[in-house]
Amino acid sequence: MEAVILVGGEGTRLRPLNQHLPKALVPVLNRPFLSHMIEHLSKHGVNNITLAAGHFSKLLDDFVKDYSNPNLCISVEPEPLGTAGAVRYSVKNPSETFLVLNGDIFSSINISELLQFHNSKKSEVTIALTFVEDPSSFGVVQTNQHERINAFVEKPQQKEDISHWVNAGIYVINPNILENIPFGQFYMFETGLFPNLLKQGYHLYGYKHEGFWIDMGTLPKYFNLNSELLFNFGNDDSIKYGVNCDISETAVLEGPILLGDNVSIGSDSKLIGPVILGNDCYVGGGVEIKNSLIWENVTIDNDSIVNGVIIGSDEVLPSGSEVSNVAIAENNFVQIYD
Ligand code: GTP
Repeated sequence: MEAVILVGGEGTRLRPLNQHLPKALVPVLNRPFLSHMIEHLSKHGVNNITLAAGHFSKLLDDFVKDYSNPNLCISVEPEPLGTAGAVRYSVKNPSETFLVLNGDIFSSINISELLQFHNSKKSEVTIALTFVEDPSSFGVVQTNQHERINAFVEKPQQKEDISHWVNAGIYVINPNILENIPFGQFYMFETGLFPNLLKQGYHLYGYKHEGFWIDMGTLPKYFNLNSELLFNFGNDDSIKYGVNCDISETAVLEGPILLGDNVSIGSDSKLIGPVILGNDCYVGGGVEIKNSLIWENVTIDNDSIVNGVIIGSDEVLPSGSEVSNVAIAENNFVQIYD
């Protein structure tokens, strides 16, 4: 089966972290987010994957080359075509049902069960749904007792009587549906294709996914995703080291902690998890780091205090720095939580 992962958006809500790289390649547990998605798909036997790219396509192209999987390829739009337009552009002649996934969703969805559901309902488009407490910033999908979709409500204002099942950004689509997407034009699934198909009487179904689901497209959610995975959903407070780490005997480490390769931690420093440090990070002496996510080659000099922070690659915090609740990248500081 073929899958298209949409990775061509600008990712404005994750700035300043992704000013120079696509959202899909920001590190999660010290490796590109996309590699987690690809791994999940391949666990369910989906190996034939196309990345529908636009912004930062060169870096995504390098990722594809490094991944050295002949079934992973990239299609680059000449200009942003929207979610549906991008799929139409990259899937030229599908002969089979295919999958589409937003490239910023981490979920435990059982793809095999999703496909079974699609087939058993004789669905033409199946939208995976996830339950949220507050649907007001999501695309709500209403279904009847047979799970057939009967309405879409984008970002509902009125809260009563509205479903809490929202579009999870994962779709199963039959090949005949593609002809409903204009080729080479900007067109969205959420606001264009799906409501249009519904009006025309196509068979659209909603598959309720009850497990883990997170859209990592904002700073708090990206942070949460890393810490949830590091905690292994509350089951793990271990400390994992890369190779060549140099940890002072007087440093104190309380897990969960993940250290990349060549990490150095000076005397009397304290790390209180969840903490992730990427490769080649240097932490001086007397430093305290708590609840933080730090990319590669970052220096945190002596006696600094770092709490609830995301730090992009190659940053330097001079001695005595005190930072909290902020994402730092290329001299930009953006608050993580309001
Ligand atoms: P924000 O600017 O923060 O809203 O991020 P975004 O536009 O990257 O993400 P959004 O949640 O709006 O889009 C969902 C997914 O679709 C993301 O994985 C995007 O990369 C992808 N996407 C959005 N628009 C396009 C597009 O025009 N072309 C392609 N190929 N992908 C897109």
